Amino acid sequence: MLGAHYRVWQNGKERKSGFRSFVVSGEMENKRAALVTGGTRGIGNAIARRFAADGWNVAISGRTLESVRTALAAFQKDGLGVEGKSADSRKEDDVRELVEFASERFGRLDVLVNNAGIGDFEEITRLDPKDFREVVETNLFGPFYGIHFAAPVMKKNGGGFIVNIGSLASVNAFAGGCAYNASKFGLLGLSDSAMLDLRPDGIRVAIVMPGSVATGFAGGQADGDSWKLSAEDVAQAVADLVRYPERAIPSRIEIRPSRPPRK
Ligand SMILES: NC(=O)c1ccc[n+]([C@@H]2O[C@H](COP(=O)([O-])OP(=O)(O)OC[C@H]3O[C@@H](n4cnc5c(N)ncnc54)[C@H](OP(=O)(O)O)[C@@H]3O)[C@@H](O)[C@H]2O)c1
Repeated sequence: MLGAHYRVWQNGKERKSGFRSFVVSGEMENKRAALVTGGTRGIGNAIARRFAADGWNVAISGRTLESVRTALAAFQKDGLGVEGKSADSRKEDDVRELVEFASERFGRLDVLVNNAGIGDFEEITRLDPKDFREVVETNLFGPFYGIHFAAPVMKKNGGGFIVNIGSLASVNAFAGGCAYNASKFGLLGLSDSAMLDLRPDGIRVAIVMPGSVATGFAGGQADGDSWKLSAEDVAQAVADLVRYPERAIPSRIEIRPSRPPRK
């Protein structure tokens, strides 16, 4: 039979289901599987789209059921079968359940992309401590939870690839960036350390650090300045990374717009 059902879960309960017509039933468990956090729009959405177009099983997350549903409907409209679950990356239990959802649904987990992220840019004495916490919990704790829960599943499968979406703000500090820089510098350290911990188990860990990408991030616009990187440029780097020969880990990738305006 050509086709398969998809389901959206929240708090362990099925909230929405549907039928996608292009997946051949029975292939689900043999296809490679990727989980992309924050795949409802922007860079994560482009990464999920890329994996799905390449024939992978893909699951995404977002904070709300609404945003996940909307994204899944758009994938479905484009003939791409993607699963989804609402899961807040700041919450340990949500991330644990998200990893369980994807690995149980697909029977394996080959790739985790820790993409979900937010920015809040304010001079340090004016930044509300609550906002500092929210940025660090999303951009740093979220990826920690993801790696912590996904690595044992990958280890059981004999290996995997974890890609963290950092930023050039992982290596360059700027005024007004205290929360974002702290979270993304921290993510670089987390990524390198996890890479050293996990490579003996066949799990490769890398960080992709883009410059300005045209998305709705922090008030930006997805169809904004044409000189900026596109979400698809970042998805290309992730797709290339996971195809890299198994012997090697390109563990830090920086991507810059090739023609930014002169300053
Ligand atoms: N855009 C840039 O210039 C740029 C440059 C370098 C790096 N990055 C990094 O790239 C990543 C993606 O950014 P983007 O530009 O695609 O931003 P975006 O368009 O604002 O998308 C952010 C994504 O993250 C999800 N998200 C946010 N908080 C979440 C949480 N607590 N739990 C689960 N999902 C959450 C959002 O989903 P919901 O809203 O549905 O929850 C959305 O899918 C971020 O880590 C960002 O730091 C962006």
